[in-house]
Amino acid sequence: MTNDTTAENTLLKVENLRIAFRMGKRLSVPVRNVSFSIGREERVAIVGESGCGKSLTSLAVGGLVERADISGRVEFPAAGGKRPAISYIFQNPMQSLDPVMRVGAQIREGAAGDADAAELLESVSLPASVAKKYPCELSGGQCQRVMIAAALAAKPSLLVADEPTTALDVTTQKEVLDLIDRISRERHMAVLLITHNLGLVAKYSDYVNVMYAGEIVEHGRVEDVIAHPRHPYTKGLIAAVPRLDARKDAPIASIPGVVPSPWAWPEGCAFHPRCPVARKSCGESGSFKGCPEMV
Ligand SMILES: Nc1ncnc2c1ncn2[C@@H]1O[C@H](COP(=O)(O)OP(=O)(O)O)[C@@H](O)[C@H]1O
Ligand code: SF4
Ligand SMILES: [Mg+2]
Repeated sequence: MTNDTTAENTLLKVENLRIAFRMGKRLSVPVRNVSFSIGREERVAIVGESGCGKSLTSLAVGGLVERADISGRVEFPAAGGKRPAISYIFQNPMQSLDPVMRVGAQIREGAAGDADAAELLESVSLPASVAKKYPCELSGGQCQRVMIAAALAAKPSLLVADEPTTALDVTTQKEVLDLIDRISRERHMAVLLITHNLGLVAKYSDYVNVMYAGEIVEHGRVEDVIAHPRHPYTKGLIAAVPRLDARKDAPIASIPGVVPSPWAWPEGCAFHPRCPVARKSCGESGSFKGCPEMV
């Protein structure tokens, strides 16, 4: 089950997206058979560990993946098929900003028309005087607010926030995510939140797509997926969410091992080398018919 929207309400529809890279005779397919949709003003997340294909998927939505063999469909039904304005904010605001340019000029640079940097700064709760400053004069949280202001200048219908707070401390992380949430509602934007932390998804998204090894392994309404996870990878991610009420010396449950390289995705179910409930058939190429836990 997915977020079921009519064509006129479907901002983005991705179907069977596949992104492949070639190196000599070797082939890597870091995004495989990915389908999901985002309705107008909806908050949708893609969650998974690093290396699962989340960023590539979100970049493909904006037509920003280069030198790749891409197939499948990326459509924008609500905008009559034309790609609407999409803005991105990334993990490291310090690196995304130009160190030798005043932030006011950087905000205006991304604007579709004449943007009022002071008004945009105000909307991200920064004083207008920040426009005259250089990025090095601001904190990490302030830089991320500047990036959000710059993203808003393009008047996007979709804001892609790719691990927007991973580099920030916990308090600033909450402030920035609350800000994105407030602004997206005020400005009627949809948000695609990319994160490895299912705990954030619970608070800031309506629908979630769980991604492992280039594939969406489970999706649905956030509260359903969190209350009744079916896929063993989703269960592992839920167990890995740091609990605020946990004893300091309690062991952190996490998924053993690491995400394999897309140059060597395992045969059968890609999660089988790490799955606590794997059956013998899960690792068999050819005979694998989907996760038995999902039925
Ligand atoms: N241009 C590229 N060429 C080859 N492999 C790439 C390229 N871009 C990304 N990848 C690989 O694709 C995989 C998924 O990357 P990414 O989408 O960034 O994952 P995530 O955002 O989930 O951490 C990674 O293993 C990454 O190394
Ligand atoms: S298919 Fe098998 S190995 Fe893969 S997640 Fe399901 S039970 Fe685990
Ligand atoms: Mg990424």
